Amino acid sequence: MKIVIENDYASLSLRAAEIIKAQVNGKPESVLGFATGSTPIGTYCELVKMYNANDVDFSKVVTFNLDEYYKIKKTDKQSYYHYMQTHLYRHVKFKETHIQDGEAADHAAECIAYEEEIASHGGIDLQILGIGVEGHIGFNESGDEFIAATHHVKLDESTIKENSRFFENENDVPKYALTMGIKTIFSAKKILLLANGANKAEILQKTVHGAITPKNPSSILQLHPDVTIITDREAGKLLV
Ligand code: GLP
Repeated sequence: MKIVIENDYASLSLRAAEIIKAQVNGKPESVLGFATGSTPIGTYCELVKMYNANDVDFSKVVTFNLDEYYKIKKTDKQSYYHYMQTHLYRHVKFKETHIQDGEAADHAAECIAYEEEIASHGGIDLQILGIGVEGHIGFNESGDEFIAATHHVKLDESTIKENSRFFENENDVPKYALTMGIKTIFSAKKILLLANGANKAEILQKTVHGAITPKNPSSILQLHPDVTIITDREAGKLLV
C-alpha cells in the first residue's frame, strides 16, 4: 500500500484530485468509482475547479457510486444521489453516472443489475474510498464474513449513529443500504482511499498493519495490488 500523508485537508483534497485528473487525462474513457461522506467533498470541489479551467475533460468518463441508502428518495437531501448532484454532477459533464437506486422496489434485482452494469463497462479503473471509524468501506460493515457482490445491507447501530450528524435526528437515518461488495471494489484496477482527521487514525493503523478480517472490512485492502492511501497529518499520525 502506498501511503501519502499530507499536511491538511486542503492538500489531501488537491492531491486526490490530481490523481483523478491524471487518470482521466491518461485514459479519457476511464470508469471511475466515487464515494460519499464528508471526506471526498474537497476532492470533488478541486475537480470542479480543474474542469472549469479546462484542465480535464470528463465527457467520456463513466462513474459508479459505491453505495446508497435504502430506501431513500432521490429528492431526499440526505440521499447519496442528491450528494453527488450537489458536489459534482451539477457542475461537471460526465458521459454516464450510476448510483444504486435507493427507491428500487426489488433490492436484490437492483443489486444484480448494478453488478452487470459495472461488468459491462469492463470494471472500474480508479475507485475512490472513504473509511468509517469501524473500518467500513462503502457500506461493507464489520461482520463475520466478507460479501463479494453488490448487496442489501442492514446498517450497524454505530454507522447509524455516526451518520446521524447529517440528519435532523437519528431516527431519520435509513436502516438499510445498497453497497458494492468487496469483489466489486476489488474489480478496480486502482484504489484511492482518503482519510481525514484524528478520529480515523486508529482505524487506518489497523487497515494498514492489522489482521485481515471481516471484523475490519478495510483490512482486505492489504490484498489489493494497487492501493494508495492519502491522509492528512492527523489521520496518518499512527502510520509513521
Ligand atoms: C459513509 C459512507 C462511506 C464513507 C463513510 C465515511 O458511511 N457510506 O462510504 O466512507 O461514510 O464518511 P466520512 O468521510 O464523513 O467520515
